[in-house]
Amino acid sequence: MNFITVKTYEELSKKAANIIAAQIINKPNCVLGLATGSTPVGTYDILTKYYEDGVLDFSTVTSVNLDEYEGLDGANDQSYRYFMNKNLFDRVNINKNNTYVPNGCATDLVKEGKDYDCLIKELGGIDIQLLGIGLDGHIGFNEPEDFFTAETHPVDLDPSTIKANARFFEDESQVPKRAITMGMMSIMQAKKILLIANSASKKEIVEKAFYGPITPLVPASILQLHPDVTVIFSEK
Ligand code: F6R
Repeated sequence: MNFITVKTYEELSKKAANIIAAQIINKPNCVLGLATGSTPVGTYDILTKYYEDGVLDFSTVTSVNLDEYEGLDGANDQSYRYFMNKNLFDRVNINKNNTYVPNGCATDLVKEGKDYDCLIKELGGIDIQLLGIGLDGHIGFNEPEDFFTAETHPVDLDPSTIKANARFFEDESQVPKRAITMGMMSIMQAKKILLIANSASKKEIVEKAFYGPITPLVPASILQLHPDVTVIFSEK
């Protein structure tokens, strides 16, 4: 594992964007695994700037996102599809037909999960997976459980996750209680993992995840078994 500590969110975002840009330059038709939440916003801003400056081309890139809230479609401004369009896809020259987010409105979320895993396989797997981390150690929406779940699957969100994500909604009661998330198999089969975390409040969980025991009670701890993980952490 390559654990990089930086001082500011700007530095974190720049380093993360440079790693993703390097991936695209090395393999222009790569598959990016992408995340939402507040942490990657700065990374997406810098990737957008590289595109605008003419040094990065997304035209042959494919992307697969980690997760989506149940019941929110892409037109809903709280959906993760909407987030991705707004923060990245609408700002660069990626072909939207090659951007995938699990469908939180599918009538059968279990089947949607299976189809999503097949899709990732058909795409040849993920070249680099960008991850954030929740305060409870979740990656994607893989919440603390007694076991690691391999497949993309529906989940009940942890009360702490609902509380943390309430900041994006008018109030906590509006936060969907369920979601669909990529499971550990597709995440762990990504060729490279890039996890970014900022703020002093995440220090403890990041330490637990990468230096504590591997346990489904700290879902991100599974990443200790991945051969190519970069963690970028900033306290601010
Ligand atoms: C979102 C996702 C989540 C977030 C995590 C941290 O697609 O996969 O695991 O990465 O909840 O969110 P922020 O960055 O808002 O602290």
